[in-house]
Amino acid sequence: MKHSATSSDEWRPVPRKREVPPAPGSAALAITPDSEVHACAPWSLPEPTLAYFPNARCVPSDRDLGAGATPPVGGSRNKARWTRKGATMPDRRAQPSDFGHVPVLADRCVELLTPALTRHHSDGSNAVLVDATLGAGGHAERFLTALPGVRLIGLDRDPSAVDIARTRLARFADRITLVHKRYDELAAALAESGYGAVESVDGVLFDLGVSSMQLDRPERGFAYAKDAPLDMRMDPSAPLTAADIVNTYDEAALTDILRRYGEERFARRIAAHIVRQRDRAPLTSTAELVALLYEAIPAPARRTGGHPAKRTFQALRIAVNEELDSLRAAIPTALDALTVAGRIVVMSYQSLEDRIVKRVFADAVASQTPPDLPVELPGLAPRFRSLTRGAERADAAEIERNPRSAPVRLRALQRVGKGDS
Ligand SMILES: C[S@@+](CC[C@H](N)C(=O)[O-])C[C@H]1O[C@@H](n2cnc3c(N)ncnc32)[C@H](O)[C@@H]1O
Repeated sequence: MKHSATSSDEWRPVPRKREVPPAPGSAALAITPDSEVHACAPWSLPEPTLAYFPNARCVPSDRDLGAGATPPVGGSRNKARWTRKGATMPDRRAQPSDFGHVPVLADRCVELLTPALTRHHSDGSNAVLVDATLGAGGHAERFLTALPGVRLIGLDRDPSAVDIARTRLARFADRITLVHKRYDELAAALAESGYGAVESVDGVLFDLGVSSMQLDRPERGFAYAKDAPLDMRMDPSAPLTAADIVNTYDEAALTDILRRYGEERFARRIAAHIVRQRDRAPLTSTAELVALLYEAIPAPARRTGGHPAKRTFQALRIAVNEELDSLRAAIPTALDALTVAGRIVVMSYQSLEDRIVKRVFADAVASQTPPDLPVELPGLAPRFRSLTRGAERADAAEIERNPRSAPVRLRALQRVGKGDS
């Protein structure tokens, strides 16, 4: 029988639908003033920002991983407590041991990938796991600790992430290979590590997007809540910055980027404002861009749908880093790299990424046998089966602990053998 495989034994019910946290930047989170509420940002926001969001300096956008300021960690600010819609919650965000980034759905990732990594030995010996988005090494550390035999190949396009992860994972040095590469260069990373591009690894993990470390470093220019150069490069050696885009792309190209990657309905107005402004002087800082967005987006629209800068910042970040092209190329390569019974987990944080993952996964679990044939043709059965029904999400407890888990969508597949489908 043909089927597009879904594992019934592995499926875990998606957490019950709960109230979705408010939109990014909609003042969902605010620091309750233990001391001075307005002392959080090291820069002065442009007046329009302050007029609209009197608390803007202290209102991080927890759901938009591409832009908002981050809850303070450490120092006297740790005494701050957080409110969600008025309810005060203890601050249980990133601790120093998290290296600034709390791994999302870490238990679930371990649960999903462990069967593939322990097929030969219960401690993971002889198994290879690829962490395609190493970041601060939080997920990697969980796997290396849980499975003392597993070998990990970690990739990140951000060299500072690789450095941080190398420090964090130093005690596992004999079992890790960390590579400064994009995940669409997976085949090259595998070759460098002594593995083939096809059927060579047992597990692959993608935890997409930006890390808290990237957002929290104002000089990287990812956060609209912090003034910084308009940069947004995940790899600081890459040639294109956000400033290059806003100052050199023509109006039509800017409109297209804002519409396509930011799903920004005022794309044309914003692009026109950018072109007018840069005729006077180039835009060089995030604060200048935020101020411009307040002028470009009509007042009623600024009050809905999250922080008015959110969509533009997301669009520019995606364009600067060619994030979607990189992902489109990487997922099929990762699927090819998996051995039979190998598994892949992908976590996305915005719909454009999740759509790509969903589409590639749907193809992977589909039979290639023409639909009008009653039996599966040899070699045309599905190559993969799904381990999740739809996308799994973080539950309320995790979101409370780590608000950046709120938008996550997790999808997972297992490669099936010739006789398994
Ligand atoms: C959400 S963080 C990963 C956090 C990590 N799982 C942890 O627990 O610390 C995503 C990471 O992926 C990296 N990244 C984004 N796009 C990438 C790409 N195309 N290739 C490689 N790394 C990428 C970012 O630089 C960032 O460090």
